[in-house]
Amino acid sequence: MTEARTVYEFVGGEHFFIELVDDFYDRVSADAILMALYPENLDEARRKTASFLAQYWGGPPNYSAERGHPRLRMRHARFAIGLVERDHWLNHMRDALHAMAKTHGLPVAIQQTMSDYFERGSTAMINHGNGRE
Ligand code: HEM
Repeated sequence: MTEARTVYEFVGGEHFFIELVDDFYDRVSADAILMALYPENLDEARRKTASFLAQYWGGPPNYSAERGHPRLRMRHARFAIGLVERDHWLNHMRDALHAMAKTHGLPVAIQQTMSDYFERGSTAMINHGNGRE
């Protein structure tokens, strides 16, 4: 039965993602490079990102119920995201994940799976510079 357990169930549900994303955006709010892209008020970003991640990892499809198909690359197209921005984003997310893994006693395999996803996902959002455009 363990194979059928989603990451969402494993981490104990939505609350994990809310905490992870809260810590992540606290780090973002202190980062001038990223705050050049984000609005001053991060409340909506916190709420939507937590909802998206909970859905992505097997939770209820609340994000899609509110926002429709995620189309994340399209939703990020209006922000100039280069390698530098992506690296800042990914480092904060990895640090937040690491902190959560410690306090929640997350198995290394789950932490690694999520970290790999964040690396791929953040790289996919690059839409600026690096000779791509
Ligand atoms: C795995 C990688 C990522 C995921 C899962 C993710 C997820 C999200 C989600 C779900 C939203 C809200 C979309 C909506 O309007 O419904 C969002 C917004 C946003 N994201 Fe990302 N994102 C990722 C990577 C990045 C990166 C690399 C950057 C920039 C360095 C970035 C910058 C932003 C900004 C500026 C917003 C708009 C916030 C607002 O207007 O309130 N994201 N992201």
